[in-house]
Amino acid sequence: MKLIDGKKTAQDISNELKQEVDKYTAQGHRPPHLVAVLVGNDPASTYYVRSKEKKAKKAGYTSEVIYLDEKTSEQELLQLVNQLNNDTAIDGFIVQLPLPKHIDEHKILMAIAPEKDIDGFHPENIGRMVAQLPGFLPATPYGILELINRYQIPTEGKKAVVIGRSLIVGRPLSILLSQKRPGGNASVCVAHSRTKNISELTKDADIVVTAIGKAHFLKADMVKDGVVIIDAGINEVPDSTRPKGYKLVGDVDFDEVSKKASYITPVPGGVGPMTIAMLLKNTLQAYENNYLKKKN
Ligand code: GUN
Repeated sequence: MKLIDGKKTAQDISNELKQEVDKYTAQGHRPPHLVAVLVGNDPASTYYVRSKEKKAKKAGYTSEVIYLDEKTSEQELLQLVNQLNNDTAIDGFIVQLPLPKHIDEHKILMAIAPEKDIDGFHPENIGRMVAQLPGFLPATPYGILELINRYQIPTEGKKAVVIGRSLIVGRPLSILLSQKRPGGNASVCVAHSRTKNISELTKDADIVVTAIGKAHFLKADMVKDGVVIIDAGINEVPDSTRPKGYKLVGDVDFDEVSKKASYITPVPGGVGPMTIAMLLKNTLQAYENNYLKKKN
């Protein structure tokens, strides 16, 4: 079994990005600027946006989080999105999901200028991804592809099962894995809450990706020997021995499944850190497109 070290890979990518940023700033350019918007104070979302800001700064970017009250109206958020769209000092921004129930998520995502949509959630970028045109790939699936490629895990002609069909992970990843591209060319099956007998599918799979948010969902008797496991789940389970009273686990029963797997991502330290690294990669791309090209 080989452990896929997302933490180290993300660090490598961050170092590579920093070198690029240092090169640009040495030429007299401003660094790339990334903004995250958080509505409300959900603890997990607060942790994520703070991590994004911290990691961005480590890679030499400038970055800030805009914290908005839980009661912020849809109209107010749309106004902020519009302001960020028009601010040339900002290369890319994200609105952290989920949003409070009174705000229509789709309306907000549609309002983000596609050229600043470093999450790749705008329908234009989703369309570009599907058509394999230049655009932004959503950070978590992009990070999973990057891990597959850097670890040289064969995907061509392999049977892959993606469990989960969310806009953020499952759906885009299922498309990317099936496309003619490095890390692609797999035969992909998408399983979800309405799938009958998931085991039947996963037992036959060479690659299983879990993205459902259910602790320890994938058990050893559901996979075959030599399977590649990518776990995109992050779940809090009670643990009285930890200062916070909980620990983070994935969707996979790691201790048992890892005995059968040829490659496996741990949680934490697998897919999670890659999401931020790829968000930074997208931000650099936005900076090159929006700022550098206009300057040169
Ligand atoms: N919530 C969970 N993952 C993500 C992400 O990648 N981007 C945004 N904007 N919200 C999220």
